[in-house]
Amino acid sequence: MNTEPRAITVPQFTAFKAAGRKITMLTAYDYATAQLVDAAGIEGILVGDSLSMVVQGHANTLPVTLEEMIYHAEMVGRAVRHALLVVDMPFPSFHLGVHRAIENAGRILKETRCQAVKLEGGVEQADVIAGLVSAGIPVMAHCGLRPQSVHQLGGYRVQRDGERLMADALAAQQAGAFGIVLECIPATLAVRITAELRIPTIGIGAGIGCDGQILVFHDLLGLTPGRLPKHVKPYADLHGVALDAVKRYRDDVRQAIFPAAEQTFE
Ligand code: KIV
Repeated sequence: MNTEPRAITVPQFTAFKAAGRKITMLTAYDYATAQLVDAAGIEGILVGDSLSMVVQGHANTLPVTLEEMIYHAEMVGRAVRHALLVVDMPFPSFHLGVHRAIENAGRILKETRCQAVKLEGGVEQADVIAGLVSAGIPVMAHCGLRPQSVHQLGGYRVQRDGERLMADALAAQQAGAFGIVLECIPATLAVRITAELRIPTIGIGAGIGCDGQILVFHDLLGLTPGRLPKHVKPYADLHGVALDAVKRYRDDVRQAIFPAAEQTFE
């Protein structure tokens, strides 16, 4: 295990809230994209279980395994120099008791170069969060829309039960979480939770009032064509750019334009 310290530590990340510094986070799943995100000065990189959908092509985040998360996190870990690196605990790696959760999170920390894990849950996972924290494993919680519970929730819907969400956030903080993702909840509720917590809230579909924001890398760059969720702002159309480049290459080869003299050895 490489224990070389990174530029941003867990306590520094948490302290950004008190300092009033907005926190940026993005997902990354491989070496090249992690290098790019890190070079841009993003404070936190998440190896999200969203890789199940955007990299592996599954319909939801349930199929990705612990081994696969570790495989991708290792690649990302080799690239990151500046950002805090967090890895998602996949379903059901933290639902099999505190002991198994520590074992699984311990593997993530030992085999990748990450500093923290993220898990979905609040009140119901408080004992697991506390167990991980007592083992020295920093935990980011994830409340609101919890994609691993998509079948129980009946789809990817905005979560509006304010009392429950506040209780989840407070339970996660009380259990020792150093930060919390709030996914797809009304902006007014996110403002209330953010004001109530000492730890930073990182929103995705939770409005401008959170302490920071996170997006899926592929959504940010327009690599996921089709209907985008309301909370996504694509900052580029890389799908369009890449498709055009591949088609031009195809046409050049068919018309014997590529390779030209510049690409040919004498
Ligand atoms: O897996 C993921 O990418 C996430 C973010 C959307 C927060 O959990």
